[in-house]
Amino acid sequence: MSTYTVQDPRKVTTRRLAEMKSKGEKIAMLTAYDYSMAKLIDEAGMDAILIGDSAANVMAGYPTTLPITLDQMIYHAQCVARGVKRALVVCDLPFGTYQGNSKQALASAIRIMKESGAEAVKMEGGEEIIESVERILSAGIPVMGHLGLTPQSINKFGTYNVRAREAAEAEKLLADAKLLEKAGCFAIVLEKIPAELATKVSESLSIPTIGIGAGNGCDGQVLVMQDMLGINMGFSPRFLRRYADLGNVIEDAVGNYIKDVKSSDFPNASEQY
Ligand code: KIV
Repeated sequence: MSTYTVQDPRKVTTRRLAEMKSKGEKIAMLTAYDYSMAKLIDEAGMDAILIGDSAANVMAGYPTTLPITLDQMIYHAQCVARGVKRALVVCDLPFGTYQGNSKQALASAIRIMKESGAEAVKMEGGEEIIESVERILSAGIPVMGHLGLTPQSINKFGTYNVRAREAAEAEKLLADAKLLEKAGCFAIVLEKIPAELATKVSESLSIPTIGIGAGNGCDGQVLVMQDMLGINMGFSPRFLRRYADLGNVIEDAVGNYIKDVKSSDFPNASEQY
């Protein structure tokens, strides 16, 4: 049973997110990659669920998000979409499926929309991908932008440190955010940038910003589900608040199951036919 009571039970749409920003109502977003977790997260009252390419890390165990394929993202998005009734479902376009050219980008976005049940796509980058963003938008596919730390460019940055601390990068980020808004994006994720800059960007835009490691001035927040539930136990950046310790809960439960099997305690007479 969720500790949060949903105020508006209607299906969340991109338009609803815009309304939330204009009313000053914060937007809650979390990642999910499978049916069971997506159903729980949706029933708890989440506004938006992201099938992040962080699936490459937390589901597949890769050190970066680069290896995940479009087919794999579509599979995760199909699983999530089947579990969700109310939240807006957004799916990442994975690395290599939109950077080539706008025709490739549109074809990738169309596959996600046709095959997965997701209602929008997310793409990393600003000016350098704007033609692709515009082409996808012109096909009627909602696009969420993603600026700041963009993990698909990890090999260019070399680290996962905070981005846009320097004035030139901060100015480019603000200009990119305005460009994405002008193109028609319905929201922008701001990842790991100074809180002051994220507040400035949020106040400069009419579309919502969704922060991760970007402070409280954003219009909403997103976290990776495994991180905030304490399943990804080794990962504890400063921006992360842990809401559960499921890693230890799962290890305890599994240890007890093993003990019960080994001692012949499980199954007992009432657990058999
Ligand atoms: O892939 C992902 O999970 C993301 C979020 C961290 C925003 O892009």
